[in-house]
Amino acid sequence: MDQSFLGIIEAGLQAAIESRNLAPALDEATRYALLGGGKRLRPTLTLQSCVAAGGSPADALPAAVSLECVHAFSLVHDDLPALDNDDLRRGRATVHRAFSESNAILAGDSLLCIAAEVVLESPRNTTLIAKEVLEATRLMIDGQSYDTDGTFRADLTDEEARLRLIHQLKTGALIRAACRCGGLAADADPVVLDRLDRFGAALGLMFQIVDDVLDETQTTAHLGKAGGKDRAAGKRTFPAILGLDASRAEIARLARVARDELSSMGPSADPLRELVDFLAFRTN
Ligand code: IPE
Ligand code: IPE
Ligand code: MG
Ligand code: MG
Ligand code: MG
Repeated sequence: MDQSFLGIIEAGLQAAIESRNLAPALDEATRYALLGGGKRLRPTLTLQSCVAAGGSPADALPAAVSLECVHAFSLVHDDLPALDNDDLRRGRATVHRAFSESNAILAGDSLLCIAAEVVLESPRNTTLIAKEVLEATRLMIDGQSYDTDGTFRADLTDEEARLRLIHQLKTGALIRAACRCGGLAADADPVVLDRLDRFGAALGLMFQIVDDVLDETQTTAHLGKAGGKDRAAGKRTFPAILGLDASRAEIARLARVARDELSSMGPSADPLRELVDFLAFRTN
């Protein structure tokens, strides 16, 4: 995984919490949720998309930090007993297990508000970037509703279409927004922004299909979160609905789509190209 911006991402995440003087119990739980590892994919995508579009990473840092706060919030709530009911995340106890359910709910709420405050510190295209982050957050929550509750609009009956909708929303929306925010921070022209948009959409869907395949094929110890859980919980996943081979073929197809979107961009897009391969072939 691309480490070029890890230092400024971690420092930005730490500053986002430290500057806020949260209630002690919330301070502990939000730090645990936000600063406890993870690939930092979304902020990396924001910063590298900004670079690919010719911008300066500092201009994209608030959006990058904001999106990782939203992501951390989404994981804390995703693990709650009322949603996926998971005990393990990133190789250690989930927030509600390490602290309490009430602290996990409130830590998620708090991270969401911090995300909104931080994104407003974006120096360029502030309103457009904030709108992007908040809209993607709402779409992610829509996706979590479809995933958890399983109630769809009456005209959406096809199982594969339901599955794609869930994945595009619960995971794709934030990843797509991460790429778009990088472009907006670079004040990219509409053609480049559209490319980053389609790149992010393909990569986001691919990322969740890989997550589904890993859930089915890897151990809990290797993943640092429960393996084999989706099938046991009766989740709609690509392996469950299309099978493992077709899931892998779809990952390869989406990786090609993502790479093709970058084909007219220069060497500044190389880190994004490398990310596509890394994410298609990752094992945890
Ligand atoms: C996990 O996301 C949740 C999904 C959207 C599949 P990541 O795999 O990016 O989780 P961390 O942040 O690296 O732990
Ligand atoms: C995660 O989907 C989507 C969000 C957290 C928004 P999963 O439920 O598959 O993620 P993991 O496998 O728990 O990380
Ligand atoms: Mg889930
Ligand atoms: Mg989950
Ligand atoms: Mg999963």
